Amino acid sequence: MLFSACFIGTAYAADPVKLSSPDGQLELKFEIVKGVPQYSLNRNGKPVVLPSRMGFILEWRDDLAHAFVLKDTKYSTFDETWDPVWGEEAHIRNHYNEMLVTLEQPIGSVESMDHSTEKRPTVMQIRFRLYDDGLGFRYEFPDLLPTKLYPENIYNALVCFWFKEELTEFAMAGDHTAWWIPGDYDTQEYNYTRSKLSEIRNLWEESHKNGGWPWTAFSKTGVQTAIQMKTDEGLYINIHEAATLDFPTMHLDYLDALSINPWDTMSSVPHQQSKAYTFRAWLCPDATGYKGRIQAPCTTPWRTVMVCEKATDVLASRLILNLNEPCALEDVSWIHPVKYMGVWWEMISGKSTWNYTNDFPSVKLGQTDFEHATPNGTHGANNANVRRYIDFAAANGFDGLLIEGWNIGWEDWYGKQKEFVFDFLTPYPDFDLPALNKYAHEKGIRLIMHHESSASTINYEHWMEKAYTLMNQYGYDAVKGGYVGTIIPFGEGHYSQPINNHYHYAIVEAAKHHIMVNSHEAVRPTGLCRTWPNMIGNESAMGTEFRERIHPGHTAILPFTRLQGGPMDYTPGIFEPDMGKIVPWGKKMSHTICNQLGLYVTFYSPLQMAADFPEHYEPYMDAFQFIKDVAVDWDTSIYIMAEPGEFIVTARHPKISSLNKAADGVGTLPDGKKGVISNATRFVYAIPDTVETQNFASLQQQKNRDVWYVGGITDENAREITVKLDFLKTGVKYEATIYADAPDACGLPDDSEFRVQDSKSKYNPQAYTITKKIVTAKSVLKLRMAPCGGFAVSIREL
Ligand code: NOJ
Ligand code: CA
Repeated sequence: MLFSACFIGTAYAADPVKLSSPDGQLELKFEIVKGVPQYSLNRNGKPVVLPSRMGFILEWRDDLAHAFVLKDTKYSTFDETWDPVWGEEAHIRNHYNEMLVTLEQPIGSVESMDHSTEKRPTVMQIRFRLYDDGLGFRYEFPDLLPTKLYPENIYNALVCFWFKEELTEFAMAGDHTAWWIPGDYDTQEYNYTRSKLSEIRNLWEESHKNGGWPWTAFSKTGVQTAIQMKTDEGLYINIHEAATLDFPTMHLDYLDALSINPWDTMSSVPHQQSKAYTFRAWLCPDATGYKGRIQAPCTTPWRTVMVCEKATDVLASRLILNLNEPCALEDVSWIHPVKYMGVWWEMISGKSTWNYTNDFPSVKLGQTDFEHATPNGTHGANNANVRRYIDFAAANGFDGLLIEGWNIGWEDWYGKQKEFVFDFLTPYPDFDLPALNKYAHEKGIRLIMHHESSASTINYEHWMEKAYTLMNQYGYDAVKGGYVGTIIPFGEGHYSQPINNHYHYAIVEAAKHHIMVNSHEAVRPTGLCRTWPNMIGNESAMGTEFRERIHPGHTAILPFTRLQGGPMDYTPGIFEPDMGKIVPWGKKMSHTICNQLGLYVTFYSPLQMAADFPEHYEPYMDAFQFIKDVAVDWDTSIYIMAEPGEFIVTARHPKISSLNKAADGVGTLPDGKKGVISNATRFVYAIPDTVETQNFASLQQQKNRDVWYVGGITDENAREITVKLDFLKTGVKYEATIYADAPDACGLPDDSEFRVQDSKSKYNPQAYTITKKIVTAKSVLKLRMAPCGGFAVSIREL
C-alpha cells in the first residue's frame, strides 16, 4: 500500500558530492535532485553510468525514493593487502576511496502506517567505494542514528521494514554489446547471448532454449548478473553484486520503450523520461512476493560496476572479493583445494543410474525395504565400481573421489516435489560406506560426500547436523550439495532471501564440522568465499553436464561473468566428447581434448574435477598427464590475452599450499600418506624425475625451482597465437611440455549450427600433439588452437 505523498517541493536541492578512484581515472558523483538520490560514474571525463536513481519501494510506508535531504558526507581511504586461503594469487590488494552519504527524510516529510515518520527522521546511508577498476555501493540502515548528526538515543523511523522493489538504476551511456543470460528465479543454467542492449527484448525468447529446469522468468527484458558489456570504444563494463547475505539476489530489468518502470508510476517522484540504456535492479521475491524483509541495523549487498580498459583486466579484477568481509574462520588449516574424480559422469551420460532398484513405484524412506529389493544392475555407486575409481584416482595422484547415488531415495529424486526425499544417512545395500572409506583412505583418497537435497531445503536442514556428523565419523571433509527442482517450502525461488539464507546456513554449519562445500544449483556466488573459504565451489551456471547443449565459447564467457563471484565446479576433463559412444541417444560435445586441458588453467577453481571415466583416460594417458600435473592453487596469475566468448590465454604459477601436501601425502593429513611422489608433487615442487625419496624434509631442499602452467581455449574459430614467456625467470632454462591440437583436430561437430569458419575440418576432437622444448624468458611459443580447441603447457625449471 502506498501513501499519498506529502513531499514538500524542491527545498532540498544540494550541490553534488564527488569521489575519485585512487588513480584518479574514475569519478563518482552523487546528488539529490528534487528529493531523489542519484549517482553517476565517469571515466576520464566520459560517462560510464549516466545519472541513475536510487531507492526502494517499501510496504506500509512511503518509499525510500523521494523527499530526501543530504545530511552528511564522510570521506575515507583504505589500502591493505590480504592473503586468501586459496585463490588465483597469494596476495590481493584492497585499495579504495570511500564516501558515506547520510540521507534523511525529515520528520513529517513522509507518511507511515505506524506513524513513526511523524516522530522520527528516516535515515538511509549509501556507502560508495571507488577502486581503480570499479565502483561498489550499498545502502545502510542504522537503527540508532549517528550521534554526531543527531541527539543521543534517537531511533531511525526505519526499524523492521519490507521491500516491495529495489529501484536502483544503472543507466548505460550507449547501446553496448552485452553477454547475458535471461533473468530467472530458479536457474542460471543457460547459454549466453551476445547482443546489443537494445536487442535484449527481441532475443530474450530464444535465449531460453536449452537451459536448466525449473525455470521461472519475470520479464521479457530480465537478465542476470554478472553481466559483461563492451562499449563501442572498447571499454569493458560489468555489473554484479558482492556479499549477498540475508538478502535476495539482484537481477536486472532492461528498461526499453515497452517496459514498465516503477519510477514512472510513483506520483511522489518528479517524472523523468529516461533516454539512456538503463537497467533497473530486480530482486528475487520470496513466496509472498516481498523482496526482502529487513531489520535495522543492516546493510544491503554491494551493487558493483566494474570498468576496465582491457578484457584481461576484468579477469584480473578482485573487486567482488575485496567488497566482502575478511575470513570469518580462525582456523583454516582444514581447508584445502581438491583435485578429484567421481562416480558421476556415468549417471550424467546415461551409462548408469543413481537409483539402485526399479522395484518400487512409490518409495517411502523408513518404510521401503531396500535390503530385499531387486538391484537394477545399473546402479553406479556399487562397491566394485567405487573401488575401481578409487584405484585409478589413487594411482594418478588425485585427492578425492565423489560418489553420487550412494544413499537411498534416488528412485524419486527428480520432479516429484517430495519433502522427505533423502535422509543423507542411509546407504544403498551395495554401498559399504565404512569399508569404502577405509579402502580409500588407505590409498590416500578421501571420498567426497554427496547431498542432493532435490531443493527440499526444509528436509535438508532437518537432517543436516546428523549428515555432517556422519561425514565426520568416516572422515569425509568435503560435500557436494545439490538443489535440483522446485524449492520446498513451495513458492520460494532458488534466489529469494530465505533460500539464500539456507545456502549460507549450510556453509556456516559445515564450517563447524570442518567440512568444505561445493553446491550445485545454489545461488551464484558474490565473493562470500573470502569470508567463508570452506565454500570451495559452486556450480550456479551451465556446466559440463549440459554436454552437447553447451555453445562454443561458453567457457570463454564464464570467467568474465559467473566466476567474478567465486569459483565454479565446471567439471572439465571430458576426453570422449562423442556421447553417442556411451549411449545410443548421446550426441557430440563441442570441444577437443586440448580444450579440456586448457580449462584447468583458464578456468580458476580450487576444486577441479577430472570428470570422465577412467577407461576414457586410459587410451590417452600421455595427455592425461597434464591433468595429473596441473596445480589448483596459485600464487600468481597472468591473463595474457582474452576476449569474452572468444578466447582466453592464462599463465599461472603454483602456490605451495596445503592442497599440494594433501595431494601427495607429504603433509599432515590424518588419513595416512601416499607412498609415492606423484607427478603433481614433481610439478608443484619442481622435483627432478631422478629424485625418489619419500621423505618430505629432503624434498623441501629441492623447492627452489620454478614451475609455470599456461592454458588457452577458443570458441568455434581456430586461432593462431603467440605467447611470450617473459614471465619466466631470466637467465634460466626450463623444459616446456606442450599439449596442442593436432593440425587436423576439430572440436566442432560436422552438423553444428556454429560452423561458420573452417567448415572443411571434420570433427576430430581427440587429435593432439605433445612436444617438449627447452625454453627461456626470451622464448615465444607459437600455438594453433583448433575450432573449439585449446592448448596447455607445463613449464618446469631444469
Ligand atoms: C545436478 C548437478 O549439477 C549434477 O552435478 C548432479 O549430478 C545432479 N544434479 C544430481 O545431484
Ligand atoms: Ca546442475
